[in-house]
Amino acid sequence: AAHDFDVDTRTGFMPPQGPLSRLPNFWESWEKALDLAMSSGLQLGQKSGLTESDRTNSEAWRFTVRQLEILPIEDLIQSEIKLRRAHHVLAWIMHFYVHSLPPAEPIIIPAPISLPLLRVSRQLQLPPVLTYSDNVLYNWHLGGGKSDRLPTIHALRCQTLFTSTTDEDEFFLTSARMELVGVEALELMRSTMDEMFVGDDIAIRRITENLRALVPIIHRLRETLLQVKKGCKPQTFYHDIRPWFRGQDSQPGREWIFEGIEQDPTLVPPVELSGASAGQSALIHSLDIFLGIDKFSHRNDMTAKDIENAMAAEHRRAAFLERMQLYMPRHHRAFLNHLSSNRLRLREFVLSAVAGTLPEASSDDETSPKDKSALLEAYNMAVTALKELRDAHLIIVTLYIIGPARRGADPGSRATPDSKPTEETKAPLKGTGGTDLVRFLKGVRDQTKNALLPNS
Ligand code: HEM
Ligand code: ALA
Repeated sequence: AAHDFDVDTRTGFMPPQGPLSRLPNFWESWEKALDLAMSSGLQLGQKSGLTESDRTNSEAWRFTVRQLEILPIEDLIQSEIKLRRAHHVLAWIMHFYVHSLPPAEPIIIPAPISLPLLRVSRQLQLPPVLTYSDNVLYNWHLGGGKSDRLPTIHALRCQTLFTSTTDEDEFFLTSARMELVGVEALELMRSTMDEMFVGDDIAIRRITENLRALVPIIHRLRETLLQVKKGCKPQTFYHDIRPWFRGQDSQPGREWIFEGIEQDPTLVPPVELSGASAGQSALIHSLDIFLGIDKFSHRNDMTAKDIENAMAAEHRRAAFLERMQLYMPRHHRAFLNHLSSNRLRLREFVLSAVAGTLPEASSDDETSPKDKSALLEAYNMAVTALKELRDAHLIIVTLYIIGPARRGADPGSRATPDSKPTEETKAPLKGTGGTDLVRFLKGVRDQTKNALLPNS
């Protein structure tokens, strides 16, 4: 049932009742530490131009974190919603802690945070690091106190922020709004899967309608993404916001040590701690799986070299998704697995319907040539819309990462015309999710385009 996947018909991957905003009193010391981090305006430890008072301030906060009592989590285990809030609070504290440290200091996450975080993460089957669900899915409220209203794209505000800027609020809310815009797409996918099961000529017409209805939704996703420009300044994003949610993988050689882990033989150190990325959103991945973009496809006009590159890109995409699925809530991971294990895949269905080889129609192909070409055209329109969403995403990535990175990784040490390129500026840019981002994102975009079916 849909319930097992924790996907709501009205709010999709977001919880309709809203995430918990505070843990019960027993864990109040965690909540207080997070409140304090937010209200003391902690600065990134690696930022240039920090004053003495910035440093004293952030060390004072980290001191209070080290002094916290190590609280048990047993009484949280019964409640998924409380466990999620605990993961949110502890992971945010950990990122405040790690990224406010001066660059020369070893990264030791104090036991009052590391032990409960590892335990809560084990319960949730999530890594002990900030994820998209901590930043977006379970990081909102509707404002104006308690309410039983459903979230809408206009009413959302974030619960927790690193920088207290509207830029950061808008950055996370852009993803949250896209999740809500995408809800209708989930219903169209579900209905299409039912229709494919029937597979007769009426079903073919309904699938065509569904695909046509999907197009404006993907267009709205694209517009919602582009509107990030209204509220979030690229320089602020790149220099002040983004570094806070980086994972351990963005600083190779600086290990994150989980203090106290050796005291508990049931805990294991995490293998990988990727930074948060919207690549952990199940929404776009479900569209990919639905439209069959997750399967390698090539076009007749491609050279052997093109095909080889496309296969390498698909390999990277699949590896990234597999890795990012581990950072998704386990129910959403199960939802994606369910989608991809479906016996009937839309792309093959469209091909078979057009060729008149659907099992249901094999004896007597009743689908008219007009209905067949309408189906193919509707499929291609949906793929094109998704390709355009990825074009827009590349525009955003150019504006928010590539541009600011080119202008100097650190505004305090701006590159001068005669300064030599350092190793860092020569290396390909990495996304917070750990990809070689330009090559990766262009590969996924091109793969989307290659899924288009030829009009015969
Ligand atoms: C992947 C940047 C907003 C959805 C990525 C990656 C980067 C990136 C660098 C590569 C993976 C990594 O290493 O992290 C950005 C920037 C954004 C932004 C700078 C806004 C300022 C969004 C939003 C969504 C989104 C709002 C929608 C929920 C995705 C998806 C991927 C991805 C699905 C995986 C690749 C794909 O399927 O095409 N993003 N992103 N991004 N992003 Fe974004
Ligand atoms: N994943 C995005 C980045 O790399 C947010 O900045």
